[in-house]
Amino acid sequence: MIPKIYSPQEILPDQNILALLSTPKQAEKLKLSTTEKAYVESQLKDEKEFIHINSYFKSTFIVCIPQKKLSRDAFLEKVRKGSISCLPLLQEKKATELVLQNLSGDAGQLTAALEGLVLASYRFDKYLTEKKKDKPALERLGIPKGDLSAQELRWYISMLKGTYIARDLMNEPLSGLTAVQMAKIFTKHAAGLDLQVEVMNKQKIAALKMGGILAVNKGSIDPPTFSILEYKPEGAVNSKPWLLVGKGIVYDTGGLSLKPTKDSMDQMKVDMGGAAAVFGSMYAVASARLPVHVVGLIPATDNRPGGNAYVPGDIITMYNGKTVEVLNTDAEGRLILADALSYVRRYDPEWTLSIATLTGSAEMAIGHYGMVGMGNAPKSLMQKLQKAGDEVYERVVEFPFWDEYGDEMKSHIADYKNIGQRGGGAISAGKFLEFFTDYPYLHLDMAGVAFLAADDGYRLKGGSGMGVRLLASFIRRLSEDK
Ligand code: BES
Ligand code: ZN
Ligand code: ZN
Repeated sequence: MIPKIYSPQEILPDQNILALLSTPKQAEKLKLSTTEKAYVESQLKDEKEFIHINSYFKSTFIVCIPQKKLSRDAFLEKVRKGSISCLPLLQEKKATELVLQNLSGDAGQLTAALEGLVLASYRFDKYLTEKKKDKPALERLGIPKGDLSAQELRWYISMLKGTYIARDLMNEPLSGLTAVQMAKIFTKHAAGLDLQVEVMNKQKIAALKMGGILAVNKGSIDPPTFSILEYKPEGAVNSKPWLLVGKGIVYDTGGLSLKPTKDSMDQMKVDMGGAAAVFGSMYAVASARLPVHVVGLIPATDNRPGGNAYVPGDIITMYNGKTVEVLNTDAEGRLILADALSYVRRYDPEWTLSIATLTGSAEMAIGHYGMVGMGNAPKSLMQKLQKAGDEVYERVVEFPFWDEYGDEMKSHIADYKNIGQRGGGAISAGKFLEFFTDYPYLHLDMAGVAFLAADDGYRLKGGSGMGVRLLASFIRRLSEDK
């Protein structure tokens, strides 16, 4: 769980403090000795952005980042990243508590530091038989009373908890996370919130003739699931629901079109990153009690070869009755998502967004600094998504959504085939999904950001939990616009 966040009435003299400044002058408000003051002054004069005053019984950290020519979004990201410089120093002292002191008067800086510190304190240590005692994680984080409204604090805590849940799900290997286990975790976390979870089992999926999910699952020894999450509070501002669909491939070997192990197949435990983003963002929205009606659909299975596995050349009939020629069993995400996108129709949504670790092509195109977005929904919706993305620094770059990419997915012996050309592979995958929609649609390919090979500031190595803050902020923005 995230560090305990509490609101002290006052800052005690022996507490570790992280002070946020926007100008050097604000340092005068710190309670420091004359020599410490002189030291801070000289450091700030040298434009040092992070200062550590190491007293005998406590540490005072100062973060002073000049906004200069940075955009507001880039500046706040610098605050997120700059704030975490104190964590290794606290670890050295085996300290687990810190109080934030916001001398800048800018609430955005406070919440940015909160986000950076909490996200950088995440640990996935359930499989370590000996905890790393020499490097204790932050356990308590104080935000003095009055610095942030209770509602704002609740919002950030909700988003951060949602991100921790998503990271836990993504880091869990297949040995601990089958489709059935994942659905159970959804149910467990939703308990206590106004978030309904219905899990359809293999029998139900078969009765509904969800041919895409059943085909991908054929080689597996574990059954698939289809989870339906619904958050419908009284007084929701939207009359038609907003739909989120997440790819829940709990492990992608590629199936008979087996992935080469040299391509880091181990990372394919994060192929349910879209599912984690959908669940984590819905958890955040429900836990912050936003007045919005949101439905999340999560088709899930692993994709592997087996005696009965689907094979290249197979023609399958999807949930909506259309046929697909499977030319590559590694293009499986689009098959399970297509069934879910057809199932969306019964909700008559205002719009639907899918999020998935869908193609290596998205990663090739933009690396791990953002997600690829596309769609046919009104431009203003994509713009709001991008604005939300800039704000939380889970950025989205829009790709074209031209019909020619969809033409690549037409087959001569079935309605569609499941692969297009190599070039623009992220887009043809998106266009394939569009065939199964009849409502305003947005699609995010998060393949590049799902798994990080090395720490990048507060974004830690491993499953990133990305997409949660993006989607939660997007939904919050939309709810405020209504
Ligand atoms: N899960 C992969 C995509 C992926 C790649 C996610 C790298 C995260 C990191 C997806 O199912 C896949 O294998 N896609 C194929 C599609 C191709 C066969 C058309 C790919 O991108 O190579
Ligand atoms: Zn695949
Ligand atoms: Zn996949």
